[in-house]
Amino acid sequence: MNPLRIAVLISGTGSNLQALIDAREQDGLAIEIVHVISNRPAAAGLDKARRAGINVSVLEATGHASREAYDQALAELIDSHPVDLVVLAGFMRIIGAPVLQRFSDHMINLHPSLLPLYRGTNTYQRALDAGDKEHGASIHFVTAELDGGPVISQVRIPVKPDDDSNTLARRLAPLEHQLIVATVELFTRGLVKCADGQVYINESSISSPLQLRNDGHLAV
Ligand code: GRF
Repeated sequence: MNPLRIAVLISGTGSNLQALIDAREQDGLAIEIVHVISNRPAAAGLDKARRAGINVSVLEATGHASREAYDQALAELIDSHPVDLVVLAGFMRIIGAPVLQRFSDHMINLHPSLLPLYRGTNTYQRALDAGDKEHGASIHFVTAELDGGPVISQVRIPVKPDDDSNTLARRLAPLEHQLIVATVELFTRGLVKCADGQVYINESSISSPLQLRNDGHLAV
């Protein structure tokens, strides 16, 4: 079986990118990360990609006349190394129509909340402010609605009474890494599809997101 060709889009640390690199190198995850793209030249994740020998590109917003022009350039940049799946892992820009039209149903995003709760930013603090007993992360197909596409998978953690947004983020991070690896693994086996705003696993639509189990696998 050919490895799944992936582009990973980042803006920052790239710890989720690193989790994918490690899963490939250490556990034989059947992927080839062919391209890492950042909108920020200083993103630490770029060095992680370079160290792994992955082709990297930086596409900054400056120099583009409009959001539309940026997105057109981004679509062309992604297309310069054809991929089966585009993974947004901490990419802090809203994805516009030129990219969505080209990659719809082949683009997923990791978001640090139990969607549909808390789209957008500052999710940890918002969960704390609401007094939630649980927080978590979701992976969803990317649509025109910010963090609003069909959700594939989730991981949940309990919120502790003394948690602040930092402790919550720190506890969630390693589980996000497991979630992204386990979700991409389903794609490597061709098990995940998106059609008509629905997620299909193994040809059956799911009524709720797959949940990450303690063993790091998704309950399919
Ligand atoms: C993760 O918390 C993810 O949920 C959010 O951005 C963060 C990315 O972290 N969208 P990293 O750059 O992969 O370390």
